[in-house]
Amino acid sequence: MNAEPNRVNADVLYESFRPDSFTRTDESDDREFYKRDRMVGHLDSLALATVENIIGRLVIEKDPAILDLMASWSSHLPAELRAAKVTGLGLNGNELARNEALSERIVHDLNADPHLPFADGVFDVVLNTVSVDYLVKPFEIFAEAGRVLKPGGLFLVLFSNRMFPEKAVKVWVEASEAERVELVRLYFRKSGLFEEPEVFVSAGRPRPRDDKYAHLGIPSDPVYAVYAERMGGAAARPKRPKPVESPVDAPAKKDPRPVRETLRCPHCGERMKKWATPNHPFSTWDTDFLYICFNDGCPYVVRCWTAMSKQGNPGMSCRFVYDPARDSAIALPIVNLNALRDGIVEE
Ligand SMILES: C[S@@+](CC[C@H](N)C(=O)[O-])C[C@H]1O[C@@H](n2cnc3c(N)ncnc32)[C@H](O)[C@@H]1O
Repeated sequence: MNAEPNRVNADVLYESFRPDSFTRTDESDDREFYKRDRMVGHLDSLALATVENIIGRLVIEKDPAILDLMASWSSHLPAELRAAKVTGLGLNGNELARNEALSERIVHDLNADPHLPFADGVFDVVLNTVSVDYLVKPFEIFAEAGRVLKPGGLFLVLFSNRMFPEKAVKVWVEASEAERVELVRLYFRKSGLFEEPEVFVSAGRPRPRDDKYAHLGIPSDPVYAVYAERMGGAAARPKRPKPVESPVDAPAKKDPRPVRETLRCPHCGERMKKWATPNHPFSTWDTDFLYICFNDGCPYVVRCWTAMSKQGNPGMSCRFVYDPARDSAIALPIVNLNALRDGIVEE
């Protein structure tokens, strides 16, 4: 679907704000809440592919300087997008360290200090993915995004309907999905720094068959994109093409090279970690090192929770393991996501 949801009167929405509209159920320090690493996929794979497609369509700059605002372990940049620099600003240093797209990582609490630690007009693109719901000072942050963008630069805000409700602001939690689109449009407009925001919606698509929630019969996670250019761009600048959805059940883009050359997990593409086999008299391993995919959101790990449960081992999953001595793959059972991590010898 490529249509706007029903419009809600923005002025009425603005007038409806109450003093508690931007409060949360959990007002504890955000740094505490986000201290726990969450290397997870916040959307199903089809929705994530659509997010990637939207970014790939809208970012038309050559060698752009990109700011990923409220970043985690993935910035969802398509492989063909070559950026001069990608700065990730978020709250969890480990998640940022895991994000291979980033060339600069900054831990900064936007709710404590909405000022962005960058000079004026230094970025071509500012991205904000599935995070706008957590901003307690969105008007200030949108003005800051406008300040750090070059004239004509793109601010792209992507969101869905999943959230940590205790950390999302009241107005967001209580709004319908159509009202949330209007809310984000309002954030743009009130800054006075952007051209009229545009909207793209992808919703009501079939949930991928291998998704962990497929059995619930719910559709794929919707993706909303609200985006606008910073005012002051050259009149003759190229127009950004309209976003498009990714094809249903598009095969994941796989690296055609064998695992032995890439040492990347063939299921999620993440670089595997070198892992020392246990060294004690009862060890049955006859090889010193293996390579293991430690991506907790890897489809292999996600599918294995279900498979193990069906085999009578609820609460267990497995990780994809590559044995370089035999050039072969094996599955190692795990009792939780922290298992095996002690053996990592090379990040
Ligand atoms: C749902 S995750 C989305 C992460 C990432 N953008 C993505 O697309 O996967 C929300 C992110 O917002 C960041 N975040 C939440 N509150 C924040 C705050 N007060 N200041 C800066 N970042 C924050 C967290 O670090 C977390 O990574």
